[in-house]
Amino acid sequence: MKTQVLDGASGIEQAAALLAAGQVVALPTETVYGLAGHALDPEAAARIFQAKERPFFDPLIVHLPSLDWLDRLTTAAGDPLVQALIHRFWPGPLTLVLPRRPVVPDIVTAGLPTVAVRMSAHPLFRAVLSRFGEPVAAPSANRFGRISPTAAAHVLEELDGRIPLILDGGPCTLGVESTVVAVREGALHLLRAGPISAEELAGHGRVLSLPAGSAIQAPGQFQSHYAPGTPLRLLSQAAESDTWQGPGRAGLLSWSRSVRPPQFAAMEVLTPRNDPREASARLFAAMRLLDALRLDLIVAEPAPPSGLGAAIMDRLRKAAGR
Ligand code: TXA
Ligand code: MG
Repeated sequence: MKTQVLDGASGIEQAAALLAAGQVVALPTETVYGLAGHALDPEAAARIFQAKERPFFDPLIVHLPSLDWLDRLTTAAGDPLVQALIHRFWPGPLTLVLPRRPVVPDIVTAGLPTVAVRMSAHPLFRAVLSRFGEPVAAPSANRFGRISPTAAAHVLEELDGRIPLILDGGPCTLGVESTVVAVREGALHLLRAGPISAEELAGHGRVLSLPAGSAIQAPGQFQSHYAPGTPLRLLSQAAESDTWQGPGRAGLLSWSRSVRPPQFAAMEVLTPRNDPREASARLFAAMRLLDALRLDLIVAEPAPPSGLGAAIMDRLRKAAGR
């Protein structure tokens, strides 16, 4: 299959038409590019798993075209805590895991009694959904286990020839996947760190983080999930890269350095101005660039531990396999 890359009005129209025909298309969101298909059509959902080579036990996020869909897909639309969260954070990078209604196909939820729902704030994504008029299931548009795409060119690297269309919306502004929260018995269970931080969520209720190594509730917690092909080692302090000594050719994924320490063959800098937002927007692209150099090792400096830095650290830990 030939993969087209389009932007603008014709891209929006084509994407909506393909979705209506049960096909899958890659769409930009504010977090990462998603691979979208009609969420209520099990065959369309199956095409998503097939294109990504994603295992069927890993459930998909359903993206809503409008708020009224919350009550059509879940039984929690009346929950005051849910209402407060969507009032504050939607549309935006927050995914809520809520009890589902039977209309959501089993293939989308991997047979779970819950469904993950989100409303993207990206103007192109919203335009496609409002034209299509139905919810879409959309995981990140990468092959399973690989780095999430934050630009149309990354999607092409991942899925060229497997999908009919990529809608090009330029680079994603946030660059890390949405925060995933299960709302259960009045508490917020943080299943995946993301752009909405635990600190921000805490203003709305008790936030419980899953201890590392606990039973998998969000397969995004798989250790191998965001791995580049090159092994990655995460330092505990940025200063350690000054004295780094190791065998082979290593590349440095630096937080904010301006000069490459000579022992590294290459360097990518996440945020010269020390801004976590700039760093998260660049993270996956920088990992891809270093990965393409066929180095023996990528050495990564740590991010600050709170806010967006926590989401970045989560991705770096997963890429390091720990
Ligand atoms: O920012 C994002 O969330 C992007 C864009 C495209 O929206 N999507 C994304 O999807 O990252 P994906 O499939 O790569 O990650 C979805 C995460 C997975 O870790 C999945 O296991 C979890 O959400 N998830 C989905 N449904 C769930 C459920 N019912 N219970 C628990 N976790 C669930
Ligand atoms: Mg993913």
